[in-house]
Amino acid sequence: MNRVALVTGAAGSGIGAKSCASLADAGFTVAAADIRGDGAKEVAAALSGSGHLGLTVDVTDEASVHTAFDEAEAALGPVAVLVCSAGIMIAPPGKSPSITEIDPADWDRTFAVNTRGPFFCIREYLARRRDTPAQGGRIITLSSAAAQSGGVRGGADYAASKAAVLALTKTVAREAAELGATANAIAPGPVDTPLFREMWPPGSESGLIDIMPFKRLIEPEEIAALVAFLASDAAANISGSTIDINGGYQMR
Ligand SMILES: NC(=O)c1ccc[n+]([C@@H]2O[C@H](COP(=O)([O-])OP(=O)(O)OC[C@H]3O[C@@H](n4cnc5c(N)ncnc54)[C@H](O)[C@@H]3O)[C@@H](O)[C@H]2O)c1
Repeated sequence: MNRVALVTGAAGSGIGAKSCASLADAGFTVAAADIRGDGAKEVAAALSGSGHLGLTVDVTDEASVHTAFDEAEAALGPVAVLVCSAGIMIAPPGKSPSITEIDPADWDRTFAVNTRGPFFCIREYLARRRDTPAQGGRIITLSSAAAQSGGVRGGADYAASKAAVLALTKTVAREAAELGATANAIAPGPVDTPLFREMWPPGSESGLIDIMPFKRLIEPEEIAALVAFLASDAAANISGSTIDINGGYQMR
């Protein structure tokens, strides 16, 4: 059976791109979507299997999300798995802004991408699945350990936007259950991706690694493996959960 996954934030080499790879390896047909459409197309072209699609989407724009779903479903069929990985962190290298330093425009931009983005994608998904059910429905959001602990070096905008994703995902889990779909949030610790490197340039992360029990950053492939598991039939009864993947540096 052809099962379709749509992944946002799929360009480049981060969690979205690696999740496209893990889902393709698991047999899904993947719509890789990103504001950097050319990058999403490159990721789609490199996936195992065939029939994958690269798309441009701006998750802050409801019409753009609608169009991306239209394109994905016209080409591939109903989206069964939605992975909301598009995200931003606005911070100068090495230091997140303190509360008094956060520009309100940056606060709004962070929430537009990190919180309103998943909201638009999830509501598009749910509306479509009410009309045209798809077996094995899954909604997977990317929150952050910062949602649970607060921003460590400031960054209240990012932490708060990701905390909102947790509440959004739990609420969605109740609604999605009516459609037989699960909804779960992943809360990663520090993952070695372009987003992480914007704040922690290579060589600057030793203090952070010191407090991580395994003395290393998390690799994006490790998050992608969890995405593929949550998308699998084996995870059919996991819903409304926040799954930590932080190397044990933060325990709840
Ligand atoms: N890297 C980490 O340490 C870490 C930790 C916890 C959570 N996360 C979260 O995981 C997710 C993936 O992060 P990553 O580290 O892979 O970052 P990344 O920068 O590699 O990927 C994010 C992608 O989102 C895309 N994007 C940005 N704005 C967009 C928009 N408006 N519409 C569509 N796409 C847009 C970017 O082009 C980029 O390709 C994010 O939501 C991030 O907040 C990351």
